Amino acid sequence: MSDTATLKIGNDTYTLPTIVGTEGERAIDVKPLRRESGHITLDPGFLNTGSCRSEITFIDGERGVLRYRGYPIEQLAEQSSFLEVAYLLTQGALPSPSALTEWEQRITRHTLVHEDMKRMYEAFPPNAHPMAILSAAVSALSTFYQDEVDPLDPDQVQINTIRLLAKVPTIAAFSLKRSQGHRYTYPDNGLSYAGRLLKMMFGYGTEPYELDEDQESALDKLLILHADHEQNCSTTTVRIVGSSKANLYASISSGISALWGPLHGGANQAVIEMLETIQNDSDGIDKYVRLARDKSSGFRLMGFGHRVYKSYDPRAKILKGAADKILAGLGQKDPLLDVARRLEEVALEDSYFREKNLYPNVDFYSGIIYRAMGIPVNMFTVMFALGRLPGWIAHWREGNEQGLPIGRPRQIYTGSGERPYVPVGQREE
Ligand code: CMC
Repeated sequence: MSDTATLKIGNDTYTLPTIVGTEGERAIDVKPLRRESGHITLDPGFLNTGSCRSEITFIDGERGVLRYRGYPIEQLAEQSSFLEVAYLLTQGALPSPSALTEWEQRITRHTLVHEDMKRMYEAFPPNAHPMAILSAAVSALSTFYQDEVDPLDPDQVQINTIRLLAKVPTIAAFSLKRSQGHRYTYPDNGLSYAGRLLKMMFGYGTEPYELDEDQESALDKLLILHADHEQNCSTTTVRIVGSSKANLYASISSGISALWGPLHGGANQAVIEMLETIQNDSDGIDKYVRLARDKSSGFRLMGFGHRVYKSYDPRAKILKGAADKILAGLGQKDPLLDVARRLEEVALEDSYFREKNLYPNVDFYSGIIYRAMGIPVNMFTVMFALGRLPGWIAHWREGNEQGLPIGRPRQIYTGSGERPYVPVGQREE
């Protein structure tokens, strides 16, 4: 295999270096191209552009493979815990037994937020979307530590990593309580990470909270499955914001905003809304598959398709199996699960979806599990954010450690040529 690429523009030939990743993915290094040829590469939406080299997560979208630092997602979901995965992603390796205990203890010690943070919640309207509150609150958190947010100081980076992993569940649960008009439930540090989150969301403080172990382990698994997904929209946002040397809190806050969109993490909320619409429509599933095929309808099957996966999303595969088990364990039957299964069957048989390799993604089944746990629909994307937090932090840290230049794409300008300014009084109505 050649280790250079040759590009011909007109009569000129340019030689560009190529790069091969550890799993054989190949890239052409176009850095010298503009300097040497006057051309840039144009790739809106970054369909074919690598933004960095990364050691964190590997995806093979054709084969449906996902690994965090080399470890298959299936094995991590089955055998690991979310806090161990957070260590793996942010610290670079699986912890020794004592390192894991110390990590868990450190995170557990930092679960409280400053009491003044609570006043911030009161400024939001009662029906404020919890993603807006989460993004604002994470940014606000930086103000309590603003003298120790130097992205180039490893000790400060580490303590802020711990603080975020510890406090974001508290912030998220408080935003739910605020939206319900209920009293905040403080973190119970005697519980696991997932157990504590459940108690903060569903405990009232007026009576003992009975933790359901099946829910606790299901939630931990969901968090693991969402923990990283290489250069997706929100992670790229976190990396770009971080490249300006913005602090970790500000960078994560911007990632939360990027995740909120319905084409990204917001899809888990949109899936449930879509399944409910289908369930309540006597025209049935075929109508919606037809609408999704018709570009002019503006309708897409939410929870289907992925920029990278052109086969079944391995996370969706795990969640599809888990949904049945979890619902049975909780003694529930959700008619939306039947709608989802039938919709998947019809779509996967449909020529449009087959030709375009559109399969269910992680958001297709996760909402059904959140629903079974009693988590309100507008909290689904918050749950995604809680899972993705270690991935965002890991990428922010890696970008800073690599000393990457500030993210600053170029463009091809297509606006007007130079023209003289016309004072307002001389312009036509
Ligand atoms: N329903 C109907 N058609 C679709 C869908 C869908 N869900 N997804 C993609 N297509 C079509 C699309 O119209 C396009 O057709 P054509 O080639 O004729 O123009 C083709 O498939 C390729 O789609 P694309 O939009 O160019 O692909 P993309 O890589 O830019 O977008 C996506 C990926 C996830 C934004 C898109 O598949 C989508 O909008 N899906 C629904 C929203 C969703 O479930 N998002 C969650 C993604 S996974 C978790 C996460 O990232 O947060």
